Amino acid sequence: MNLSEKKKRIALPDNFRLFSLDNGADVDLGEVIDGLKATPKLVAPKFFYDARGSTLFNAICTTDAYYPTRTECSIYQQQAGAIADAVGEDTTVIEFGPGDMSKVRLLLDHLRPRTYIGIDVSVAQLEDAGPPLASDYPWLQVVAVCGDFGPSVKLEEHLPDDSRRVAFFPGSTIGNLDPAAAENFLRGLRSMVGSTGAVIVGVDLQKPKSTLEKAYNDPEGYTRAFNLNLLTRINRELGANFDERRFRHKAFYNEELGRMEMHLVSVIEQKVRIGDETIDFQPGETIHTESSWKYTRERFAALTEKAGFASHKFFTDERGWFGVFVLSTK
Ligand code: SAH
Ligand code: AVI
Repeated sequence: MNLSEKKKRIALPDNFRLFSLDNGADVDLGEVIDGLKATPKLVAPKFFYDARGSTLFNAICTTDAYYPTRTECSIYQQQAGAIADAVGEDTTVIEFGPGDMSKVRLLLDHLRPRTYIGIDVSVAQLEDAGPPLASDYPWLQVVAVCGDFGPSVKLEEHLPDDSRRVAFFPGSTIGNLDPAAAENFLRGLRSMVGSTGAVIVGVDLQKPKSTLEKAYNDPEGYTRAFNLNLLTRINRELGANFDERRFRHKAFYNEELGRMEMHLVSVIEQKVRIGDETIDFQPGETIHTESSWKYTRERFAALTEKAGFASHKFFTDERGWFGVFVLSTK
C-alpha cells in the first residue's frame, strides 16, 4: 500500500506531511553500472535501503553484537538535557537518515523544536515512522522528505526561515562517507545552520578490532542478509541477474585506514548481466558495498574545525565507544 492509498484508509495526523525530492529514492542504473565497471568494484551504501534492507538494518540494531545503536541511545538517554542546553530553544530540527526515527524521540521532550524534518532515501521507513512520530508529538510539525541527502540535495526551499536550525545526523552514518566527503558534508551543514544554529552528530569511535568485526558479522546473520539484499534489489529494480548464492558476505576491519569494510565476494568466476552490460567477476573478486570509518575524538574534532565549526561539546558513554558532538559556529 502506498502513501496515498494509506491516506484513504487511515487518517494521517494533521501535523504530518511527506514529499519527495527530485533526486528520489530509486536505485540509479548508470551509477550502479559505473561502480561495477570500476576497479575495484563498488556500489554505494545508500542503495541498501529498500523496504527489506531497511527492515534488516532495524534488525541489526537489535542484536547484541551491533553495539552502536544501544550505545548512542544510552548517551541521548543520559544527556538529552545537556544536549538541549547546548542547542537552545525555538528550533527546526533537520535529521539526515532518520531511519525508524527512534533516536530523535529521545531528544524531543528536551529540545521541544517547532518543526522536525527528516530526510531519508527509504520511503518505507518514512511512511512507517513518520505518522506515529506526529501522533505521539502533536505539538510538533513533522515533515518527512524522501530523497538523497548527497552533495546535490536542495533542501533550502523546504526549510522554515523563522527559527534556528539544528541538524541532527545520528547513527555514525557520517562514518559511511570517507573523511574528505565527511568534511564536505559538515561544511554543507555549517552553511545550512548558519551562525545561530547547531549540529548534533553521532560518531562511532575506535575500539578493539574483535568488537568491531563482531558487530558487522552478527551471529543472527542480519548483516549478511542486509549486504546480500543489495543484489536482490539490483536484480528487481534494474533487471540484473545476480545469483545471491554465488556471492558471500565479508566484513573486516582495515586497521591501516581505520574503517570497517563490507564486501560481496564472488565465490566463482562468473558473468552478470545488468542493463546492456555484462560484468565479469574473477573468483574472490569483491564489490565494496560500505565503509564505516571509526574516529578518535581528536580526529573527528579536527575534521569539524576544518569544516568551519568553532567549538564543540562532546558526550560519550562509560566505555568511550561512541561520541556525540554538538557543533557550533561560535
Ligand atoms: N539514523 C538511524 C538510521 C541509520 S541507517 C539510526 O541511527 O539508527 C542510515 C539511514 O540513512 C537509513 O535510514 C538510510 O535509508 C539513510 N540513508 C543512507 N544514505 C542516504 C542518503 N544518501 N540520502 C538519504 N538517506 C540516506
Ligand atoms: C548506517 N551505518 C552507519 C551503519 C554502519 O554501521 O555503517 C550501516 C550498517 N552496516 C552494517 N551494519 C550496519
